[in-house]
Amino acid sequence: MTLPIARNVADLRARVAGWREAGERVALVPTMGALHVGHLSLIALARRNASRVVASLFVNPAQFAPHEDFAAYPRDENEDSRRLAAAGCDLLYAPRTDEIYPPGFATTVAVTGVSEDLEGAARPGHFAGVATVVAKLLIQAAPDVAVFGEKDYQQLLVIRRVALDLDLPVEILGAPIVRANDGLALSSRNAYLSDAERAIAPALHRTLLAAAGAIRAGAAIADVEADGRRALLSAGFDAVDYFAVRDEDLRSLGSGPTMSPVRILTAARIGRTRLIDNVPG
Ligand code: PAJ
Repeated sequence: MTLPIARNVADLRARVAGWREAGERVALVPTMGALHVGHLSLIALARRNASRVVASLFVNPAQFAPHEDFAAYPRDENEDSRRLAAAGCDLLYAPRTDEIYPPGFATTVAVTGVSEDLEGAARPGHFAGVATVVAKLLIQAAPDVAVFGEKDYQQLLVIRRVALDLDLPVEILGAPIVRANDGLALSSRNAYLSDAERAIAPALHRTLLAAAGAIRAGAAIADVEADGRRALLSAGFDAVDYFAVRDEDLRSLGSGPTMSPVRILTAARIGRTRLIDNVPG
């Protein structure tokens, strides 16, 4: 089965409008492609919440810094399209760059507060790039519901903020993280890992789970964060951008023990690959 593809906003809107007129509920799942089972789980969640599912595929230059992996980011539209069709997607929106960024493009959606630290501090400008493209995709597709993974937990909160602040009439759904058997969160960037690096990578999830256990056992947040960093470095990670225990809205909980629900988030590098992960606790 071949999946229909819309390459421009007019085509996308015409198809969505047809469904809407027929009384159908439409979901959007934004992606940058190189699709894996994690992405496909978002399509499945979208299917359970809507009768039509649109996936977008756009490797967004605005969310990559000049030194990051925009050029190297894996791209295989044909394979992505096959996987989406098999997962029950109805339409692929794969816009050309000028469909998202027309000549003279000069508008940025910048979110303060929740976007400022963790990924925001490690990747300046990243969330403005994400918020701008996601606002555009939501305005272009005008879905009833849009699905994002908890894999990018801070991104999910940033997008919820954008939808609320800009009165975008869309329900934002979060989907749980899909992992490999050894716990490594599925990511398009896992393809960059050598065999030796891939063997180190599951320490990310293991260390997060140990941190969640320590918090529940009453350990002080500052100690858990320091232990997490140390554990990742001794497992073979080359650098840890952050290892942070926060509340569910990513606010700081201080340095002592906590009884509150937490989110523990980390970003760490092995060689040239940067991996992120998080767990509730
Ligand atoms: P991308 O990294 O392609 O991810 C697309 C969506 O899939 C995101 O919502 C992400 O959180 C989710 N996802 C990735 N790996 C997952 C996993 N293992 N389990 C569950 N969900 C997973 O995130 C982006 O693209 C971009 O920033 C985007 C939102 C498309 C804006 O350009």
